[in-house]
Amino acid sequence: MTTQALKGRIALVTGGTTGLGFGAAQRLIDEGAFVYITGRRKDVLDAADERLGPSAQGIQADVTSKSDMQRVADTIKAEHGLLDILFANAGGGHATPLAELTEEQIDSELGINIKGVILTVQSLLGVLRDGAAITLNASITADMGLPGFAVYASTKAAVRSLARSWTTDLKDRRIRVNTISPGVVPTEGYSHEQKMSDADITAYAKRVAHEIPAGRVGTPQDIGDALVFLSSDTSRYITGIDLVVDGGMTRVYAGRN
Ligand SMILES: NC(=O)c1ccc[n+]([C@@H]2O[C@H](COP(=O)([O-])OP(=O)(O)OC[C@H]3O[C@@H](n4cnc5c(N)ncnc54)[C@H](OP(=O)(O)O)[C@@H]3O)[C@@H](O)[C@H]2O)c1
Repeated sequence: MTTQALKGRIALVTGGTTGLGFGAAQRLIDEGAFVYITGRRKDVLDAADERLGPSAQGIQADVTSKSDMQRVADTIKAEHGLLDILFANAGGGHATPLAELTEEQIDSELGINIKGVILTVQSLLGVLRDGAAITLNASITADMGLPGFAVYASTKAAVRSLARSWTTDLKDRRIRVNTISPGVVPTEGYSHEQKMSDADITAYAKRVAHEIPAGRVGTPQDIGDALVFLSSDTSRYITGIDLVVDGGMTRVYAGRN
């Protein structure tokens, strides 16, 4: 059910071409927003743009490039003037034993997940409306030890820290900054980042569901619904928080479902 809570709002979702970003873009559109999405792969971007329909527009851009993100800001300014909602979602990483980590993987994950989030918010500052809502996509791994995920998890802890600092930096402009920490949500990232087959993903989702009080893994819509809440006036008195959207996985002992 939609309430058109975001009617007329202009939004940007980085990494909006697949997975959580695509699901978030769909939910923002359902609620009446016009949504810009970004991604690096042109064919994937065009396909997502087409599926989202007339209330979306794709801009090919890499979040780790200052000039790309400035171009995104310039495009939004020229076409719509101001931005109401920013979801800094682009990110990723994969499990690698500590001894096998390469410099390339470390640079890549720190680059996309930390530098990319900083460049995204910094580049869009001049376009964000006073009173806008910024949400950063973190992860439950920021609070957990998970085999092989030390670099990824530490980048997500950094994302949470960025949100707390920016909440104070941007308070005079009444810009709210929050993070969402998704739990386990199977997406395209599980196949192309984690190199899991469809059968692996299905088996993993079934196994991990036993550890989740909600009894199932998450969906992009679950994360999109949380984003709609944090982007709407309903959450006007909420800033600087981390909204954990994990079906209770990290806060509650599930026993066996
Ligand atoms: N799925 C989960 O279980 C889960 C849990 C916790 C947190 N998260 C977080 O949720 C976010 C989305 O993950 P996902 O699972 O939806 O993964 P996904 O399906 O792989 O989507 C990643 C998106 O980011 C884009 N992207 C990656 N690097 C980029 C870059 N340098 N510049 C611009 N766009 C870039 C990808 O497009 P291109 O590759 O074409 O650029 C794609 O649109 C990530 O920040 C991830 O850490 C996911």
